[in-house]
Amino acid sequence: MQWTGLNDLREKYLSFFESKGHLRLPSFPLIPKDDNSLLLINSGMAPMKKYFTGEVTPPRKRVTTCQKCIRTPDIERVGITARHGTFFEMLGNFSFGDYFKKEATAWAWEFFTKVLEMPADRLYISIYQDDDEAFDIWTKQNGVDPSHMVRLGREDNFWEHGSGPCGPCSEIYFDRGEKYGCGKPTCGVGCDCDRYVEVWNLVFTQFENDGNNNYTPLDHPNIDTGMGLERLACVMQGADNLFLVDTVQNIMKHISRIANVQYGADEKSDVSLRVITDHIRSTTFMISDGVMPSNEGRGYVLRRLLRRAARHGRLLGINHPFLADVVDTVIHENECAYPELREKSAMIKKVIAFEEENFYKTIDKGFALLNDIIDRTDAKVLSGEDAFLLSDTFGFPIDLTKEILSEKGMSVDEDRFRALVLQQRETARASRKNAGADAWAGDSDVLDDIKKTEFVGYTDMKVTAKVTAIVKDGARVEAVETGDDIVFTLDRTSFYAESGGQVGDTGVITNDSCTIRVLDTTKNAAGVFIHKAVVEEGFLREGDTVEAVVDVERRRAIMRNHTAAHLLQAALRSVLGDHVEQAGQLVNENAVRFDFTH
Ligand code: ALA
Repeated sequence: MQWTGLNDLREKYLSFFESKGHLRLPSFPLIPKDDNSLLLINSGMAPMKKYFTGEVTPPRKRVTTCQKCIRTPDIERVGITARHGTFFEMLGNFSFGDYFKKEATAWAWEFFTKVLEMPADRLYISIYQDDDEAFDIWTKQNGVDPSHMVRLGREDNFWEHGSGPCGPCSEIYFDRGEKYGCGKPTCGVGCDCDRYVEVWNLVFTQFENDGNNNYTPLDHPNIDTGMGLERLACVMQGADNLFLVDTVQNIMKHISRIANVQYGADEKSDVSLRVITDHIRSTTFMISDGVMPSNEGRGYVLRRLLRRAARHGRLLGINHPFLADVVDTVIHENECAYPELREKSAMIKKVIAFEEENFYKTIDKGFALLNDIIDRTDAKVLSGEDAFLLSDTFGFPIDLTKEILSEKGMSVDEDRFRALVLQQRETARASRKNAGADAWAGDSDVLDDIKKTEFVGYTDMKVTAKVTAIVKDGARVEAVETGDDIVFTLDRTSFYAESGGQVGDTGVITNDSCTIRVLDTTKNAAGVFIHKAVVEEGFLREGDTVEAVVDVERRRAIMRNHTAAHLLQAALRSVLGDHVEQAGQLVNENAVRFDFTH
């Protein structure tokens, strides 16, 4: 097999499938059309869901694409590791009720072993545990050695992404060699180490998931395949990770030149180089597809990526706006496949420059203030109040404050800082409530597709549940992180929702990656329990499994008040008769007042 550039690999793939009767379509835009279940397109099949279900007739039954994709759940890991990225291209060949397993596997094998000349002895195939048909086709028809076949369970070999078409799948792995292995006797396909990389996923799309795990067989079976182009390039170029792939490397080199730092010289600057490289790729493509920076939805994702990139520019010592310049290289490396980038280049650069300059202006004021404080103090610890002022007024992130302080041998009172952040959120929440602005959570349509919550809180104060939706700033989001003020729903909950004068439960939601404090629980007309919360630590994604624990002491205290209030109400009712409404109101006001004491 020969070193092949990323742009050549894309072309080889698409023309191979054209030779097999497929229609080559350009990538669909990153903004989903008529699909509220996604913020941004995240796989090759996502823009074609309606072709799979038969709702819309495809232009041909065989289609091939290279699709721009964005996945942001691991945004904080991007840069820290070299494995994660937010932008990638997905190669895919699709059959809408035309060919099935036999052809899909045969062509995948032909493309790898004949066109790209990958050695068969370095390829391994996984199949869904009881898919004997796939086992026979791979081994008998395609000639794969049975010792290179692995059966895996639902976790690994059943593909679905939220609602829509889905099915069992078969994956092709490339063995990078013993030196990348963990050396454990159990090491093999599916191991967490770097030896066996999953390159191509062939999905035998046979079902439709309605979003609530009800599976209906589709009228006809389909094929959906997906192969990360950057991942394939890593294999073909012998590159250890995405950032070493030719076109991506060229973007990073441009940033290295501006910052005057070498990749590989220092782990800290490597993190920043990776963050900027990844984020400038995603943001260039997002803006070219019409996403604009804003404080909600995909606009917020864009803003966050741009700010994170700008901040890492600062960490590299770049003291002027530079991101728009790097856009030129992103366009240069990708325009052969995406000519729209060149057409929209002026607009893309303008949006990025504007956003970056704004970010710098606020951050510069923060820098000046922080330096002033440092100069005037002998203390070794910056107060939580000062750190809060910097973050609240100047948008100066706490980690940047910490970073600057640590260079001067100082630290920050983080506990006090976090307490002030929480206090401010509480105040903001209370004022929103007073203004009636909170009503959206129950009234707006953002949670319309969410099924009634199973309430188990009469018996269980603790439950393991799945996050079914997350809302931030009034819009559905895929993931949230430390400090975010959110509303979320679970498939089942122990949290009692505010009703009949008894206030909603508070408590904590946790899993390996987050701690979320629930500040209140309400319920909408459809019986969906709405948890209002703040992310105290880490990140939470839609689909995550969490432990939800009610603050039991508080619930008991409230119940005592509530029961007392009901008894009082009954007593008053007998005395006041017709004026029972006022009695109820009086009692409920008292109940609420009592609640605040707990
Ligand atoms: N849709 C499948 C995936 O994204 C091919 O892996």
